Amino acid sequence: MSSLARATQSLEREGKTCEILISEERVLARVAELGREITRDYQGRDLDIVGVLKGCALFMSDLIRSIDLPLACDYLRVSSYDGGTESRGVVRFDLDVSQPVTGKHVLLVEDIIDTGLTMSYLLENLRTRHPASLAVCALLHKPARTIKPVPIDYLGFTIENHFVVGYGLDYAGRYRNLRHIAKLEDIA
Ligand code: IMP
Ligand code: MG
Repeated sequence: MSSLARATQSLEREGKTCEILISEERVLARVAELGREITRDYQGRDLDIVGVLKGCALFMSDLIRSIDLPLACDYLRVSSYDGGTESRGVVRFDLDVSQPVTGKHVLLVEDIIDTGLTMSYLLENLRTRHPASLAVCALLHKPARTIKPVPIDYLGFTIENHFVVGYGLDYAGRYRNLRHIAKLEDIA
């Protein structure tokens, strides 16, 4: 049984349907393109890639292998969701970067920008530490849900207002290990 079929079965028990929105091939091709764009734009600069855990894990591991530059990786973790599908609108640092970002060329890597509350909080917070530059790379963006608009320097895909899982994204902590991006819907 495929991982999608297994996920579909377990989601049906929770009253949800699951269907592929972006295939593994499309995801990987786009991530490689983003890596090439970043490589071109950051020539001559040392990059500090800062991933927003946990959703960035799969995206970031593929992305950094597509960037042909000297780079360092760090991670931070914030919570803005309660593990369900709705934002609480409250952002809190659970884990901060391990090295100071002052004077560095920082590229924040995030799985998805939904309301924009998390990313606008992070940008505001990191700016106070005076990085040499600060940019955003997001795999997905849901413009229909925007509360706080944020600049996205590198974007994988714009999607409609669906709740999505896979390629690092979770629903209640699960389905991060799907190779594609799937949309969840309530069974009517
Ligand atoms: P924002 O603060 O509303 O932009 O939400 C940011 C965070 O919410 C993302 O980093 C994700 O962790 C989570 N999130 C938003 N939409 C989805 C989704 O469709 N699937 C899984 N996680 C999501
Ligand atoms: Mg996230």
